[in-house]
Amino acid sequence: MESAGWGREKPWRRRIWLFFVFKCLSWCPSFTFLLRSHSTARPRPRRFSATHAIDTNAQDQLAPPAVASTSHSSVADEHLTFLRDVAAVPEATLPSKELPHFISLLQRRGYEVVSPSPSRGNFHPFFIPLARNTSADESNPSSYLGLLKWPSAPEDMPLPVVRPGPSGVSLVSFDIRSLMKRFAVEEDLRGDETAGETVQLVNSLLNEGEGYELGDVHRLGLGLPRYLALKRVGRFPDVYEALVDLHLAKGDTYSAMVASEKYYKEVKGWGRPLAYHADLMATHRGNTEVARDAAKVALKLPIWTTAADDAELRRTVDLAADRSYDEYRDSFLRRSRDPRTEEIQRGRKLKYVVALERAAWLMDAMMFGLKSKTGGEGPVYVPWSAIKQQLADLYTEGGAPEMARFVLT
Ligand SMILES: *[C@@H]1O[C@H](CO)[C@@H](O)[C@H](O)[C@H]1NC(C)=O
Repeated sequence: MESAGWGREKPWRRRIWLFFVFKCLSWCPSFTFLLRSHSTARPRPRRFSATHAIDTNAQDQLAPPAVASTSHSSVADEHLTFLRDVAAVPEATLPSKELPHFISLLQRRGYEVVSPSPSRGNFHPFFIPLARNTSADESNPSSYLGLLKWPSAPEDMPLPVVRPGPSGVSLVSFDIRSLMKRFAVEEDLRGDETAGETVQLVNSLLNEGEGYELGDVHRLGLGLPRYLALKRVGRFPDVYEALVDLHLAKGDTYSAMVASEKYYKEVKGWGRPLAYHADLMATHRGNTEVARDAAKVALKLPIWTTAADDAELRRTVDLAADRSYDEYRDSFLRRSRDPRTEEIQRGRKLKYVVALERAAWLMDAMMFGLKSKTGGEGPVYVPWSAIKQQLADLYTEGGAPEMARFVLT
């Protein structure tokens, strides 16, 4: 039932969608608006044997991108050129003004800048590496920080800042500017010598009245997460999770639940907050019903936004308790291979939309077992490079050559 392509324009689909909303209202009122915002239909599970098509042997290690030259403005130019020419980021959302400064702040925090293109191969197809934490292990994908180019993003949506995990991607900030403002607050809180300079720089990028005033975080005296939340510096997933932890540390699971609800309501479009809420409800509130509903919705969003690694994904599947891990993978795979020719010929579906949906399902399938197979010592991750050619073919077929070029570059 959940599979029926809710949010679509066809009357029968609308009826099914309304039925689903109605059904859902009786047990998960707070999640329905999230479903509505997710426009991609999701598969119904059916047994399907997934034995070929994907090169699961391509388990080569994550190759480190080449370190770019030291001058941050020329490095920023290289990134901006990549964003404009390869990632086809519209001029309106190109972070031309803030990127050089963002890069210099990252360097100050112990990051080295990396070139955007040479080794995107094993990273998530939409991830554009910017910098790497030099104190962290190079083979750990989470030591990288970068931007995300979402294929069907609205023209005016800023590029989010993200961190790759072993399989999925974690949201760091919805945009560069609010993260830079957070950096200024953090430097001030730590009493860094550079704080004054950073505050000035960040404020020069922000609109009148949006800037940070040196010393403000000390005046409020509530610590970093509460300051960032109360002053609405930005929507940062780790801050929402830190706020939940603060309540849990005091044994106040009710307030933790309220904070977690705020988290998934404000971080829309990403599955992680719902998976997190599901885990919290099951673990600390003993409410498996709400946990199940939240986990199910989390699994309807792009799976790479729901789990950064295989353990998180398995936990969410367990909490959803509707189908097995393998069933999820098989249904995603089956959907990704269905060309839906008849629907297209009858004009029910645009070729472009079908291609984008199939690509999305292929990526979901990667998260389930194509990408990670449980071996003797835990999951073995298949690098994203294993499906990039297939993704590119789908985009090309759907008339999105710029996406095809982007995922292959
Ligand atoms: C960089 O990595 C090290 C080691 O994992 C970690 O302790 C440190 O917090 C990281 N720095 C930043 C700015 O994320």
